Amino acid sequence: MADQLSFPETFFIGAATAAHQIEGNNTTSDWWAFENREGTPIQERSGDALDSLHRWREDMDLLAEFGLNAYRFSIEWARIEPAPGKFSRAMINHYREMVTYAQQIGLTPIITLHHFTNPLWFRLDGAWTSASATQRFASYIRAIAPILDAGVKHVVTFNEPNIAAVMQTVLLGQGDLETGLGGGLPRGHEPTALGLARAHHEARDLLHRNHPGIQVGWSIANQCVQHVDGGQDLAEEYRHHHEDWYLQQAKEDDFVGVQSYTRTIFGPEGIIAPDPAVPLTQMGWEFYPQAVGEAVRNASRVSGGVPIVVTENGVATADDDERIRYTASALASIHTAMAEGSDVRGYLHWSALDNYEWGRWEPTFGLIAVDRETFTRHPKPSGAWLGSIARTKRLPQ
Ligand code: BGC
Repeated sequence: MADQLSFPETFFIGAATAAHQIEGNNTTSDWWAFENREGTPIQERSGDALDSLHRWREDMDLLAEFGLNAYRFSIEWARIEPAPGKFSRAMINHYREMVTYAQQIGLTPIITLHHFTNPLWFRLDGAWTSASATQRFASYIRAIAPILDAGVKHVVTFNEPNIAAVMQTVLLGQGDLETGLGGGLPRGHEPTALGLARAHHEARDLLHRNHPGIQVGWSIANQCVQHVDGGQDLAEEYRHHHEDWYLQQAKEDDFVGVQSYTRTIFGPEGIIAPDPAVPLTQMGWEFYPQAVGEAVRNASRVSGGVPIVVTENGVATADDDERIRYTASALASIHTAMAEGSDVRGYLHWSALDNYEWGRWEPTFGLIAVDRETFTRHPKPSGAWLGSIARTKRLPQ
């Protein structure tokens, strides 16, 4: 066996973040309202988060110093359009500067237009089930043309629409996270799923028309669904509902984003808990790095061979050596999927920084730790390790 695996010269390796999880004080968003309302079920608030709204240059410098060559970050619609039809020129300039700076220091910017959060007014107006949702999203996209024209080549319209649809079910009180389909996630809210797909397709066509050459996709949470004897039917139903339907919507896209962390196994009665001997991550998920290779194969099959970008993959752990072990196996599993024919263009590690995990600060996914009192950044060895793979395109075995 070769003592190293090589990736194509054009394969990019970087890290990913989302605005609400790092910027701080996202006060015009629905998530901020949710975290801060009386009686909220959210344990911990995002607050100042990592103050990346002001420290983004430092964050990007660290990624470039690691040797990474791509950075996926989201632009916050709630900041850009804090009231319907009222766009903030200052925020558009802010994100435009981020795009320009990323390129100056050798990071290919990959922009997410929507990462779970909505402007509060949009939520109050019915969010993705409102008759004007698609047109509202399109007008946001038209307003951010100066950001895209600063050199953006890859746009993720929606982060994990399949999880956004599930969140809507939970928000409406029509299911909870403990008692879903087969003991897993509750069914996604169908009008929300359809609204997101409509907005995505419309956004893709608009972006193609107005920004020729731009590559557009959406990114899907892939659960690496497996089964044991008697669990096949449930597993297939679950995978179709939560994952494959969304991958099918990507058939005409330029790429599809695969996001994968662990696997989900079905038996005849539903989801089977991981073997007690198997280590769990800080999220309580089975440590199963090869999930991403399987997710890539499934995405490639279901989407009919659409090029893939791994837009998120990583592990919540306090042990940075474990992060390196996890990521090495994950990359090896992607390499195998590529050798078998999947067209994977790049890998973005989740996450650049230890960030706000949607209600909790404890899980640490980052290549960089952050002191939340002083906001001092502390790069971890895993960052330099991943950077060396990005530079050499070789993964030692
Ligand atoms: C999301 C991230 C999240 C990560 C880890 C993905 O579902 O896109 O925002 O932090 O998984 O849970």
